[in-house]
Amino acid sequence: MQITIDSGQLYGELDKLASFTDAPPPAVTRVVFSTVDLAARAYIRELCRAANLIVRVDAVGNLFARWVGSEPGLAAIGTGSHTDAIPFAGAYDGTVGVLGGLEAIRALQRAGFQPRRSIELLMFTSEEPTRFGIGCLGSRLLSGGLQAGRAKTLTDKEGQSLDQVRTAAGFSGTLDDVVLPKGYYEAFLELHVEQGPVLEARNIPVGVVTAIAAPASLRIWLDGEGGHAGTVLMPQRHDAFLAASEISLAVESAVKSTGAIDTVGTVGVCDIFPGAVNSIPSRVKIEIDVRDIDGTRRDAVLRAIDEACGRVTERRGVKLKKEVLNADPPAQSGRRALNALNQSCERCGISPFPLPSRAYHDSLFMSRITEVGMLFVRCRQGVSHRPDEYASADDIATGTRVLADALAQLSLES
Ligand code: GLV
Ligand code: MN
Ligand code: MN
Repeated sequence: MQITIDSGQLYGELDKLASFTDAPPPAVTRVVFSTVDLAARAYIRELCRAANLIVRVDAVGNLFARWVGSEPGLAAIGTGSHTDAIPFAGAYDGTVGVLGGLEAIRALQRAGFQPRRSIELLMFTSEEPTRFGIGCLGSRLLSGGLQAGRAKTLTDKEGQSLDQVRTAAGFSGTLDDVVLPKGYYEAFLELHVEQGPVLEARNIPVGVVTAIAAPASLRIWLDGEGGHAGTVLMPQRHDAFLAASEISLAVESAVKSTGAIDTVGTVGVCDIFPGAVNSIPSRVKIEIDVRDIDGTRRDAVLRAIDEACGRVTERRGVKLKKEVLNADPPAQSGRRALNALNQSCERCGISPFPLPSRAYHDSLFMSRITEVGMLFVRCRQGVSHRPDEYASADDIATGTRVLADALAQLSLES
């Protein structure tokens, strides 16, 4: 079978999708259920309809677009990713897996392929944690990794609940119905930009992901005592920001103390109240992200951070409240999914290159209900979550071709 990717059309669609943004181009900000997110969803839906796929959307906004196979009763082969984007992101994170997945299906249709198992494109809601604090919202719910009851307690910065926001965006129905029945998918493949430097350094267009690192995120509130920045003397202070600063530095030392290059930690959110230059911070919220390929080592770092929190708050007379937003185990790629991707690389003239994923992806959660495989596309200088994120049309087309070939293979397997 000759699979031909229409790279011009695919790249044009990626460009068009990038135009749905709340930040000035080339930056992309597309937060879940914002007006631009809804416009992007409508665009994807239209493209799926044009490809004659059967579209359905669940209560949290996950979009499924199915190419029905000759044996529609069999578990389907899924593919897809996300289209939401963190503030000031680029045009490729997630989108390559959605539009590449769609183009893979269209390429197979053009090649005259007849799938046995249905092939289904999935666009997950809110892979990014920007609005509700938790990443992979859609895939967590689909896989049962997040219970509907807990999802209902999620709120955004404005205090609006997930239920309020999704309903206002037009996604109704109960979240209890989002979880997929057992055996819904036979396998799930996700195409994604690497977001790291490995493939570029080795001059390889695509790589096959072997495992996905374990992510955790914590939200910590520190309550100290506010006051006048000129009149409260230093020995009397209980500055919540200084406590947050010490804890942030403790995150760095806990991470570095593992001695493993695979352990990483970041404090990416710090909100100071009341936020005036002449006022001692009385309340601070920080959010901490810790990851490792090794889940046990990641958990040891979380414990070290806990201990540091105890020491710092006691010494500074500051109160602490901690919420573990998520602490997920790592995922391994499935054997059959890996075989299919490796064999497809070979058929496409590329020697398969294995690498881990340090970023998380919806596949982390899909691995709980089916076997997953991921294909990474080389990106420039490993840059991601930045406006200058870039992957070439040729590399995206190569990844899409390998994906299409692997989807075809899995769709025919018993
Ligand atoms: C996904 O965007 C991640 O933060 O790994
Ligand atoms: Mn991302
Ligand atoms: Mn992503």
